Amino acid sequence: MSVLRTCLITGGAGNLACQLSWRLASRFDEIVLCDLAQSPVTVVPANVKYKHCDLVDQAGVACLIAEHRPNVIFHLASLLSASCEHDLGRAWNVNTTATLGLFESCLANGVGTVVFPSSLATYGGQLADPLEEDAPQWPDSLYGVTKVACERLGLYFHRRQGLDFRCLRLPAVISRFAPTGAASAYSSRAFIESVECGRFTFPVRPSTQVSLIYVEDALEALVRLAIAPAERLSRRVYNIQAISPSAQDIADCIRHRLCAARLDFNPDPVAVRLIESWPRRLQDGSARHDWQWGPQFDLQGMADHFLDELKK
Ligand SMILES: NC(=O)c1ccc[n+]([C@@H]2O[C@H](COP(=O)([O-])OP(=O)(O)OC[C@H]3O[C@@H](n4cnc5c(N)ncnc54)[C@H](O)[C@@H]3O)[C@@H](O)[C@H]2O)c1
Repeated sequence: MSVLRTCLITGGAGNLACQLSWRLASRFDEIVLCDLAQSPVTVVPANVKYKHCDLVDQAGVACLIAEHRPNVIFHLASLLSASCEHDLGRAWNVNTTATLGLFESCLANGVGTVVFPSSLATYGGQLADPLEEDAPQWPDSLYGVTKVACERLGLYFHRRQGLDFRCLRLPAVISRFAPTGAASAYSSRAFIESVECGRFTFPVRPSTQVSLIYVEDALEALVRLAIAPAERLSRRVYNIQAISPSAQDIADCIRHRLCAARLDFNPDPVAVRLIESWPRRLQDGSARHDWQWGPQFDLQGMADHFLDELKK
């Protein structure tokens, strides 16, 4: 592995960025988190700098990149699925137009690698189970549309301009800081609210099943993809698969550990329609082959670990 020095994480106040900063702290001399939020969602390591920055301010982003000249950028800033539907224009500007500007600044300042988290929400409609790696992407949400656009933009910049673009289509991430703006947050909230309030109502059907991943595995996948030698990458956009429990499986798993938890279902038709348009399982042979991807947490292992963390 080459010696890395500076890392910039956009969306740096958010769920994945803050947790990623801990995993990267020993690999970089300097980590810069940038976000329009006033402060990070949780504590971050001592060698982290926090910069206030709106991604749509392209001149500001260009200055930030020119100032720090990061070796690697994790481009995590995004409006998520529910937030995108509330303001389509803002969603397009933040998720897509600002990403184009960021890629241009990366090229202008010799940024080594850009890691971008895409999503299983780039798929929609009637899908095979498991879904093959190069299945057509026809998303039902604007969020999915913006993620497909950024995947294609990244590939364009890679092929035409040599940008070292690396992209991971993440399943829905189970995490204690899961943002409520994500339609898939129910899988995290079920655990969190069972611990905090002793009850949770799933906004989906008991049979609703979607591809999920525990945050520890998601962070490990992002780091592995970032540090993989370029010659090992047979593609630039990878799918990964971890666990695929139904909502009923999640409820059973929580009840088994928190006997007093009151768990029930009150499906929201809009949420159900969107979530059930996403893949249940994804084929991920390329990630397993190219950079030795493999999840460490199955549903039971994840539940034990997550509930322990939440009770601390
Ligand atoms: N969490 C998941 O389940 C999941 C699944 C697949 C992909 N992803 C992707 O991973 C990334 C991180 O997700 P997360 O769960 O940490 O979400 P998050 O909402 O916690 O973090 C996103 C951050 O982006 C910031 N942001 C939004 N607009 C901005 C702007 N104009 N300028 C600067 N910052 C802005 C927000 O303030 C927020 O802190 C996102 O790109 C998301 O699409 C997440």
